[in-house]
Amino acid sequence: MTGATHFELPDYHEQSPPVRERFAQLDARPVVMRVDHLGKTFLGAQGEVQALGDIEFDVRRGEFISVIGPSGCGKSTLIRILAGLDYPTEGAVMLDGEPVIGPGADRGMVFQGYTLFPWLTVEKNVMFGLKMKGVKRREAREQARHWLEVVGLSGFAGHYPKQLSGGMKQRVAIARALANQPRILLMDEPFGALDAQTRAHMQAHLLKIWRDLDVTILFITHDLDEAVYLSDRIVAMGTGPGHVQEMIEVPVERPRSPEQFLSGPFLATKKRLEELIHPRTEEMRALEA
Ligand SMILES: Nc1ncnc2c1ncn2[C@@H]1O[C@H](COP(=O)(O)OP(=O)(O)O)[C@@H](O)[C@H]1O
Ligand SMILES: [Mg+2]
Repeated sequence: MTGATHFELPDYHEQSPPVRERFAQLDARPVVMRVDHLGKTFLGAQGEVQALGDIEFDVRRGEFISVIGPSGCGKSTLIRILAGLDYPTEGAVMLDGEPVIGPGADRGMVFQGYTLFPWLTVEKNVMFGLKMKGVKRREAREQARHWLEVVGLSGFAGHYPKQLSGGMKQRVAIARALANQPRILLMDEPFGALDAQTRAHMQAHLLKIWRDLDVTILFITHDLDEAVYLSDRIVAMGTGPGHVQEMIEVPVERPRSPEQFLSGPFLATKKRLEELIHPRTEEMRALEA
């Protein structure tokens, strides 16, 4: 194509000294979650469907790790298994060295769909899991107020979910997940239904919460910018069956800011993800010729 600007991007493997130092520190941290040769085959009316084959990676304490891949590659299947909402047909998931055999308060979940109880106030939504764990009402209310403050919703404790915007509902969902003080926060495209501006705001807010609380986050997205902006490492998945194509150490320095979206390390990582996740087909090449 003529007229296009071309400039050399660095290789995403190149890391500045602070980035290299951060990964050295991360590698020295304990493993919170181990995904150990995980496979999943569904038995359906059409016979067997292998959704995941031999997935393997570790999540370290305090890490922000994203999983990205084309639609249908098994991301939701994977995170449901990590949450203990479904089971693997091969391999295992270990949390702090113990096999995951069902759902538990040690893993907080935030989904794309709004999963709040519509008949409960914001505060009671956050208190729900705490009361299930046997926390007394007064104590549960105090903790709920704390977590609502963390997500910036102190003034909305008495509101009902239907009175909130999409971004605010997701903040309640995050407060509810954090209230259990999980070992790991599992998020499946949590900002996928939000408009671009709200989404950008939520990303910045999540990064602040992650940094302040030193929580471990596994985040599913199919948005390349979102993955690069938020993550330490990105698990790039492929299809047929779902597998890990590449584990990417994001070479962008922290703290992150939107100005970095046009930096060399950011664009180099995004370019690599494009190649892995959206490879150009023969048909697309023909159209470009
Ligand atoms: N309960 C199920 N029974 C049979 N097949 C399923 C089931 N859940 C998911 N699948 C299949 O597994 C594959 C991965 O789906 P999913 O995990 O939802 O992908 P993603 O979240 O990456 O879009 C798809 O082919 C889907 O049809
Ligand atoms: Mg999905």
